Amino acid sequence: MAIRNIILEGDPMLRKKSKPVRQVNDHIRETMQDMVETMRQHEGVGLAAPQVGVMRRMFVAEPVPDEVYYMINPEILEQDGSQTGEEGCLSVPDLEGVVERPQHIKIRALDLDGNEQSYDFEDFHARVMCHEYDHLDGVLYIDKATETYDPQERYEELQKEYEEKNKELRKKLEEDGAISVEE
Ligand code: NI
Repeated sequence: MAIRNIILEGDPMLRKKSKPVRQVNDHIRETMQDMVETMRQHEGVGLAAPQVGVMRRMFVAEPVPDEVYYMINPEILEQDGSQTGEEGCLSVPDLEGVVERPQHIKIRALDLDGNEQSYDFEDFHARVMCHEYDHLDGVLYIDKATETYDPQERYEELQKEYEEKNKELRKKLEEDGAISVEE
């Protein structure tokens, strides 16, 4: 296995529609294993083939640790409900955004053996699959996000908020005599 380079937003390859995989062979399997390794190296939860310059309809996803999905020629058969949450993308580093996604999807894809599988996903799993699926059509989450921000800046803002709140809390706790110092 090998770590692949991840293409960043701005490269026209990320905006193209990928072509179906014609045959699930060793080359495809090796590419997908490389994608898993690359995704893990970057602490991502999903990676689509066009992100590593392979313009084929396939992606890998690991929404929770050690639960890896290999999706080849995926098709979203059903989607319903809606959820709003935060997303990031390995092709758009140092940014996060708020995106609306379906609450539930039914997706069909070929696995690494070329067998057809269908899955029902909800919540975060559904979000990850929709995000990766979009990559195959040249769509990035930032196209759909209602808001994007730098998580580092957001963290600094939050730290300031916490600090203010802690000052108030501390005062209140002291007034109540609720603070005890262990010697
Ligand atoms: Ni992405």
